[in-house]
Amino acid sequence: MRKKIVAGNWKMNNDLEAGYKLATEVNNIVKDEVTSNVEVVLCTPFIHLTGVSKLISGKVKLGAQNCYTKKSGAYTGEISVEMLKSAGVSYVILGHSERREYFGETNAMLAEKVNIVLEGGLKPIFCCGETLKQREDGIHFDLVRNQLTESLFHLSAEAFANVVIAYEPIWAIGTGVTATTEQAQEMHAILRKHIASKYGEGVANDTTIQYGGSCNPTNAPELFACPDIDGGLIGGASLEARKFIDVIKAIK
Ligand code: PGA
Repeated sequence: MRKKIVAGNWKMNNDLEAGYKLATEVNNIVKDEVTSNVEVVLCTPFIHLTGVSKLISGKVKLGAQNCYTKKSGAYTGEISVEMLKSAGVSYVILGHSERREYFGETNAMLAEKVNIVLEGGLKPIFCCGETLKQREDGIHFDLVRNQLTESLFHLSAEAFANVVIAYEPIWAIGTGVTATTEQAQEMHAILRKHIASKYGEGVANDTTIQYGGSCNPTNAPELFACPDIDGGLIGGASLEARKFIDVIKAIK
């Protein structure tokens, strides 16, 4: 049975005090209220990681939002996988559409990041997704399949087993517009089939594929009930403990 994972992507929000308060609240409520077998990940800004790692326990794990492709050295302003590991990180979001758009991350660059994260023993949450224009042009399936092919399909089946996929239609991120359950399920099934074509049914069935894009307590129950949706990558709704918990509790 593949793992259900709900990850909160705080993006560039919360100062240290607000972040520690949020992490503490989430951790306490998860402990008291979340009974399902779901893993919860808090993907905080870099400077929060060490502090938050001391505030969470049990099902609540720590995630970063990015890392650099090199092990160490003269790369001013960058953060390595070893540093993330030493801060208690388990997951690293890679290839979020905001990083692709604002920081020029390409599929080839992301393949390198995927490698270094896996070599370090951490798990990438690999983001993929299309713009509205690409969907309207009818190229969305090919485009998203190609994001996986170019950044992930060089991996061995053994390595790929540690990858989490997050499908995030760009037009649904932070817009309040969610993909319909049909649109989300359709893409998730296509991605799983694509993974099966490379790694076989067994690996594909074990791969966690999260949905992301304006996921909230209202639409989460329907989205998470879809057979190929295994949790979510949550932006806005992860910034309030109560909302985030209600999204997590939508996992049955
Ligand atoms: P959103 O962000 O939930 O605010 O749409 C999701 C994401 O970008 O990961």
